Amino acid sequence: MKSPLVLVTAGPTREKIDPIRFISNYSTGMFGYKIAEEARDRGCRVVLVTGPVSIEPPSGVKTIQVESAIEMQKAVKTWSNKADYIFMAAAVSDWRAADPARAKIKKIGRKMSLELKENPDILKTLGKRKTYRLVGFALETENLIGNAAKKLKNKGLDIIVANRLTKNANLFGDNKIDVLIMDRYGGRDIYKGLSKGRLSKIILDKAFSFNIK
Ligand code: C5P
Repeated sequence: MKSPLVLVTAGPTREKIDPIRFISNYSTGMFGYKIAEEARDRGCRVVLVTGPVSIEPPSGVKTIQVESAIEMQKAVKTWSNKADYIFMAAAVSDWRAADPARAKIKKIGRKMSLELKENPDILKTLGKRKTYRLVGFALETENLIGNAAKKLKNKGLDIIVANRLTKNANLFGDNKIDVLIMDRYGGRDIYKGLSKGRLSKIILDKAFSFNIK
């Protein structure tokens, strides 16, 4: 029997404004990379679809580098058909420039505005027709439990891993964080001050404890 195929997304996406500028976020990719490494260490076949980050791609993992949400969506679509477990740890930009300029945009000496268009919600699309276990991540600034519960249901997830952005916690990089993990069967656990490596083990244990399909 083949070992399970695990698909992981990680890092931010970059959405071009013009050839030299982009919209993005502070994601370092650390959480997704730790999950990919943990799945590899458990003997899974792992595909990591990653936005631009400064950490090294893990060895023994098929790494696909993408830039924008649209590119990430394409790579995810290709691999999701074959996946048994999907972990969507990427911080996908919710918007992209409606009309990215082909040449560098010049200063015009007055106020400037940028029209944005919504990106596809990759995770939500994956939740619609599932032949895999699906895990989503959420970073919230308020109402952690309410928002996590809503996303778990609306996006058709098996598990959601949520944390709150607080003033003194830097959630990006390899810091210890507090998370809430909820699952579709009513399970709800809170973990405090754990590294992303340790949390990856907990998240994989939980996802793997559910049967596929
Ligand atoms: O709705 P929100 O962006 O908070 O949801 C976060 C989850 O959804 C993450 O798992 C993220 O990878 C995924 N997501 C996505 N496509 C988007 C936005 C978020 O797959 N356009």
